[in-house]
Amino acid sequence: MLSVENVSKTYKIAGNPVQALKDISFTLKRGELIAIMGTSGSGKSTLLHVLAALDEPDTGKITVNGQYSKNMFKEPRATDYRRDMIGFIFQSYNLLKDLTIEENIALPLLLKEQSQATITRKVGEMLYLMGLEDWKHHRPIQLSGGQQQRVAIGRALITQPPLVLADELTGNLDTNTSKDILRVLTGMKNKFNQSMLMVTHDPIVATYADRVLFFHDGEIVNEYSCSGIDDMDAIMHIFQQILTGQSI
Ligand SMILES: Nc1ncnc2c1ncn2[C@@H]1O[C@H](COP(=O)(O)OP(=O)(O)O)[C@@H](O)[C@H]1O
Ligand SMILES: [Mg+2]
Repeated sequence: MLSVENVSKTYKIAGNPVQALKDISFTLKRGELIAIMGTSGSGKSTLLHVLAALDEPDTGKITVNGQYSKNMFKEPRATDYRRDMIGFIFQSYNLLKDLTIEENIALPLLLKEQSQATITRKVGEMLYLMGLEDWKHHRPIQLSGGQQQRVAIGRALITQPPLVLADELTGNLDTNTSKDILRVLTGMKNKFNQSMLMVTHDPIVATYADRVLFFHDGEIVNEYSCSGIDDMDAIMHIFQQILTGQSI
């Protein structure tokens, strides 16, 4: 579904080059969930931004659904690509505070200029799937963190984008709420056969993935195939090694 080949990205900070991504290559299959773990500043967010066409790599090739476009980072194509292909979920939910829950979830459909009848039906279904029907007329601030992240997931998935990108989506949530959010997210992924990439520092969250890619200094330094919660200790062990610099 997604193929990333030899992608590199360098930023200039006060005139000094910082290589955020160094020759990154991997593939993500349809229906697959990959977790990305890594040290702070290792390029995890940069990778998600590049995949969402929010930032352009210096070199390398990104192929989505078998299609490669040199212009995917140029407007208006980048905006079309984001609207049609990508669902993005953030740590801080990024909900619009003046809109109701229902209106927040409906936003991407408005951007796609869908009819009012379609919007009402799709948002109704999503509110049901997310267990948010009783909250639809409330504002984000009236909801708990876990509920707000459910709204953000509903908004990201309402158009059924083939590629879902999540940056520390449980970073502000406790363990039980995180597990609850991951159950919702993997349930939706399986229902709609979506591909997902999620950055996390939580080994429990990573056990929900099919594979874990470990980042350090802009490079993939390790990879782990995952079958469930029993893999938590192994994942934590590799992550600890990377944090303490042992495997480099
Ligand atoms: N927009 C930017 N401008 C300049 N430097 C950036 C920018 N975004 C990220 N960086 C730098 O690139 C490196 C990787 O950052 P990032 O991808 O945010 O890491 P992570 O998400 O793994 O913590 C860091 O050194 C960071 O300072
Ligand atoms: Mg980051």
